[in-house]
Amino acid sequence: MKIHYETDRFILRDFEAQDSKGIFALDSDPLVHKYLGNNPLTHISQAEDVIAMIQAQYEKNGIGRWAVIEKDTGEFMGWSGLKYEENLRSEFTYYDLGFRFKPKFWGKGLATETALLSLKHGFDVMGLDTICAAADVENLASNAVIKKVGLQFKELFYYEGIPVNWFELKRVNWSSENVVTNPRK
Ligand SMILES: CC(C)(COP(=O)(O)OP(=O)(O)OC[C@H]1O[C@@H](n2cnc3c(N)ncnc32)[C@H](O)[C@@H]1OP(=O)(O)O)[C@@H](O)C(=O)NCCC(=O)NCCS
Repeated sequence: MKIHYETDRFILRDFEAQDSKGIFALDSDPLVHKYLGNNPLTHISQAEDVIAMIQAQYEKNGIGRWAVIEKDTGEFMGWSGLKYEENLRSEFTYYDLGFRFKPKFWGKGLATETALLSLKHGFDVMGLDTICAAADVENLASNAVIKKVGLQFKELFYYEGIPVNWFELKRVNWSSENVVTNPRK
């Protein structure tokens, strides 16, 4: 098991095959997919494919989203982290910051806390110059988190006809001192 970060409430680790039930619970929920194309999973085999795809990204790109596991219970809470994104912007590739949690875990600062750890990893460990993020303009929680962790709005673009906010953070504007664990405590 490859654990990247650990706080008093969760661990951030690489995905494993055993996470397929967790991914299915997350990605079969229409609420979770409201701003993600409204196309939730319908079969566990799709969750297995998702995990295989992420594991292939670890191999190919050296990075991919991480599973977030509640420490007290061992429950799969969702995922968070960086991804080398090759498909969203047709003009260029980039390192994308993202997060997705089961609704029962929303509003507890998890996206914020895990995003700050992901930025620390991207800038301090991977040595990236720029990390980007994209969010449906109507996805207010996602936009709030992206701005709160320090990314700056750059432009509006359209993905499959939907307006999307585009954000960037440069390494020169990043400080590891931004990282706080349990921001709601
Ligand atoms: C987006 C998401 C990851 C946020 O996770 P979270 O752990 O609840 O986020 P946090 O608790 O760290 O922060 C949420 C912030 O959004 C704000 N927020 C939530 N709903 C909001 C709304 N309707 N309007 C304005 N702000 C809102 C909260 O107030 C909070 O900001 P604050 O701490 O300054 O008060 C979660 O809602 C989710 O998994 N959504 C489904 C998947 C998704 O859309 N992922 C993002 C794709 S770009």
